[in-house]
Amino acid sequence: MDFVIAVDGPAASGKGTVAVGLGRRFALPVLDTGLLYRAVGVGVVRIGGDLDDEGFAARVASGLDAGALEDPAFRTRAAGEAASRVAVHPAVRQALKDFQRMFALQKGGAILDGRDIGTVIAPEAPAKLFVTASPEVRAQRRWKQLQAEGTTYQEVLADIHKRDERDSGRAAAPLVRAEDAVLLDTSQMTIDEAADAARRIVEAARARWEASSRPG
Ligand code: DC
Repeated sequence: MDFVIAVDGPAASGKGTVAVGLGRRFALPVLDTGLLYRAVGVGVVRIGGDLDDEGFAARVASGLDAGALEDPAFRTRAAGEAASRVAVHPAVRQALKDFQRMFALQKGGAILDGRDIGTVIAPEAPAKLFVTASPEVRAQRRWKQLQAEGTTYQEVLADIHKRDERDSGRAAAPLVRAEDAVLLDTSQMTIDEAADAARRIVEAARARWEASSRPG
């Protein structure tokens, strides 16, 4: 495996922004794996399926066009909720695994952000971050992003609590910090400060990785 950066954390922790910043700094391609689950959730709803039907959701996951993740419908609150529901199914996770694994194994390295990158998808990644923030701070950030939907802060906070519970409580690849992931709590940080802190953590990991992969 080349230089892979695993960025995990709960909803609206800032991990996506951190991953994109790292992508620029290290000139690596970034995969937002949440979009895969969002695409499956939206796909199930669009064809009138049941989000709790594992077989159905897994068939949608198997047929997913991973090259078409730019649909704005994947960014809505409803899509996040649907994603979290299909993500509990082991068969859905399995169907999405090969694509994520291939992305991680591409030549030159890659960055993936999600919930189980450092634990399941790329446990051997040379750099791992676990990005978090308090539920209130995360709700505030997500609420600002969702302003156009007319949602209240209280509704977004309730969503965040519910999603944390579902993502961390599920049996299949729950959200947990990998033992060797560096914790980055962004509660008190601006976006720039968080990006800066992440860059320093990854630069240190890269120096260690380069030293250990040097021949002789
Ligand atoms: O990161 P996000 O909010 O876009 O993720 C949406 C949902 O997808 C999240 O609540 C749980 C699921 N997910 C997952 O189970 N594993 C991942 N690697 C990424 C997302």
